[in-house]
Amino acid sequence: MRKVALVGAGVVGSSWSIVFARAGYQVSVYDAKQSAREGVPAFARLVAQDLAAHGLMEGAEVEPTLARIKIAGSLEDALSGAAYVQESAPERLELKVALYAELDRLIRPEMIVGSSTSGLPASSFTRDVKNRARCLVVHPINPPHLIPLVEIVPAPWTAPEVVEGASEIMRAVGQSPIRLTREINGFVVNRLQSALLGEAFRLVEDGVCSAADVDAAVADGLGMRWFFMGPFQTIDLNAAQGIAEYCQTLGPMYYGLAKEQADPRPWGPQLVETIERELRVKAPANRRAERRAWRDGYLADLGAFKRAHKE
Ligand SMILES: NC(=O)c1ccc[n+]([C@@H]2O[C@H](COP(=O)([O-])OP(=O)(O)OC[C@H]3O[C@@H](n4cnc5c(N)ncnc54)[C@H](O)[C@@H]3O)[C@@H](O)[C@H]2O)c1
Repeated sequence: MRKVALVGAGVVGSSWSIVFARAGYQVSVYDAKQSAREGVPAFARLVAQDLAAHGLMEGAEVEPTLARIKIAGSLEDALSGAAYVQESAPERLELKVALYAELDRLIRPEMIVGSSTSGLPASSFTRDVKNRARCLVVHPINPPHLIPLVEIVPAPWTAPEVVEGASEIMRAVGQSPIRLTREINGFVVNRLQSALLGEAFRLVEDGVCSAADVDAAVADGLGMRWFFMGPFQTIDLNAAQGIAEYCQTLGPMYYGLAKEQADPRPWGPQLVETIERELRVKAPANRRAERRAWRDGYLADLGAFKRAHKE
């Protein structure tokens, strides 16, 4: 399997182009908007050069990698001969339903079609697709060329070999797949993020600490460990005898906290305004592009560090 088709070349689709091309795949990019698909090569060049500077091209050379990315003039051209399709069209249900109706004519029985959707279950847009057993969610964290995790989420009708095949392809291109056994709102990553964000807003709303303090609690505290180990590994090392002792000692405290946090609150406009006002002191709105570049440079440095320390 050497060719993949990318359908939708916005923020996420463009980033996918490098992920697949870097791993040696021929990449055929289709976007309904001509300017979007034609912008991919220039974006890919910048990203590939940056990845090369950080030693993150997995041994691939920049120019041959870029040469593997081709722009397709139609959906048919993009999918022709491709064994894997990564769909990254806008997060609008009616749009995905219409797109999958179009894709249906082109999905061959051996193809796998992964959707980048952040929150729509595949069952919501593949119900009437003839080859729906070949479709599932392959949800990246943006930008996938710098963040390896992907969530593999099958619809009830996704074939088991498609789940396995999508996981294999993701591993082959250097991503780190986790598999969900079934569809669930928010998948795993956003459910975890939701728990943390809910508490972050609550702490500021209740005047317990500032927004900057919440950010510091994660960036300089919890995040230092979470960068390379998850919460279970973390607590396993935080008690002399490991996770069972930790849960026995601290389980009741966490259960009590969870009860305090059980009542969800909306993020009201006044609260959001307060947090934004505080944020803007250090993060002015007119410096977003600069801050994004800083974030991506940081992520690349961390990615290189992590690679060097892989077990
Ligand atoms: N941006 C993120 O942080 C992020 C992260 C993870 C997953 N996602 C998911 O990835 C998908 C794409 O998000 P994005 O942020 O890249 O959106 P985007 O708006 O930047 O890009 C979507 C692209 O799809 C194109 N498009 C629209 N209709 C099309 C069609 N019928 N066929 C082909 N192309 C079409 C648009 O022209 C646009 O270029 C969404 O499902 C989103 O939920 C986004």
